[in-house]
Amino acid sequence: MAALWSGRFEEGVDEFTQRFGASLPVDKAMYSEDIDGSIAHARMLAKQGIISAGDAQAIVDGLESIRKDIEAGDFIFDINDEDIHMAIEGELTRRIGDAGARLHTGRSRNDQVSTDTRLYMKGRARSLMQANISLREALVDQANRNMDVIMPGYTHLQHAQPVLFSHHMLAYVWMLTRDFDRLKAAYIAADANPLGAAALAGTTYPLDREFTTEQLGFDHAIPNSLDAVSDRDYLLDLMYACSVSCIHLSRLCEEIILWSSAEFGFITLSDSYSTGSSIMPQKKNPDFAELIRSKSGRVIGDLVALLVTLKSLPLAYNKDLQEDKQGAMDAADTLEDCYVCAAGMISTMQLNPDAMLAEASKGYLAATDVADYLAKKGMPFRRAHEVVGHLVLLCDKRQCGLEDLALEDFQAESDLFEEDIVGCLDLEAIVDARRTFGGTSPNAVKDQMSLATEKLDQDRGICA
Ligand code: ARG
Repeated sequence: MAALWSGRFEEGVDEFTQRFGASLPVDKAMYSEDIDGSIAHARMLAKQGIISAGDAQAIVDGLESIRKDIEAGDFIFDINDEDIHMAIEGELTRRIGDAGARLHTGRSRNDQVSTDTRLYMKGRARSLMQANISLREALVDQANRNMDVIMPGYTHLQHAQPVLFSHHMLAYVWMLTRDFDRLKAAYIAADANPLGAAALAGTTYPLDREFTTEQLGFDHAIPNSLDAVSDRDYLLDLMYACSVSCIHLSRLCEEIILWSSAEFGFITLSDSYSTGSSIMPQKKNPDFAELIRSKSGRVIGDLVALLVTLKSLPLAYNKDLQEDKQGAMDAADTLEDCYVCAAGMISTMQLNPDAMLAEASKGYLAATDVADYLAKKGMPFRRAHEVVGHLVLLCDKRQCGLEDLALEDFQAESDLFEEDIVGCLDLEAIVDARRTFGGTSPNAVKDQMSLATEKLDQDRGICA
């Protein structure tokens, strides 16, 4: 088939360069957005008296019949078509003749491709926002089911202070809440209409860009035609949002992997989120958590690839920009799959509260509270810190816990210690004492839970 620009050429491209230059295998995913964009453009051309109403109707009907064929799997894509835009326009003209050949009036593939991509990525951002909500629901649900379970809290992966498991889960809910906002920002970045910028400079036809903006559901028309065809920030924004969220998932999954190990034994993953070994009959591996942990590498790679592609790129459209879609689609698909997998894994995992409590009883998790006890009785905190350090050293030598020391042992270090020190050694009391906003006491966590679910409701409203 002759290329759309065959007028100026004497020879066709060779078969290899045709394939090398094509984006059809990737951008055919945007067939529906391409058809929507073309319908809006055709209606606008007719409204402005640039093409006849009859031609516009023939174009709309022809495009809808192509959409139907693609969706039924009856459309044969030809690799001689460079991209989805040419595939659909070429077929339209074969079906309806001259009316089809008028569709591209006042339009370039440069504004067309960005219109399609923006529409497509708005849809992807929206479904990512929905999947993000489902994962947050799964985490909130696990937290609610295990509201008062105590586990060791860590710094440097060393036992630090006891925390509620629900508090730990909610930390991830907040990370994902920020991810939702980042995805929403990416949606907003994509929500602007480049159509009407034509190749780079606008066009001599009296186009109504407000009309196509409204028809296509964009927030506004992009005010600069050069920027309209060369901007890919909205893809960077989306891939950045995906990258950060993948990093959050990698942290969550790393903990799931640790927690499901024999050393921790905090959780048991459901069989449907585990695999066995081909040689070791006893194995139950957290493959899917590992896979999610690793996917962040890929998604960050997608982001970096486009950043580097855009670096130093002169205005306006350059063919380099054709490399933009594959990574963005991959990043969105990958994150969405990770969200779905993580949600299933979280909601089906079984907790082992006894193991968590047993671990929280090791490692002197009460030490800060013992120091606070002295400080509240007037000893400067730095001094109190040192006193408790000595007590911990004593325990270390005796191979016992702070709760195993006698009152005399405490009093040998400071005469401020009295009977009531036992209250500082109880894990529940330690947790309950952390009542500051955002702290781990049961009541503070309940308040936090209300805030998290309120934001979830709001975000559900945004996606509805
Ligand atoms: N296949 C191209 C892309 O995806 C469409 C735009 C091509 N424009 C051009 N002047 N070659 O970017």
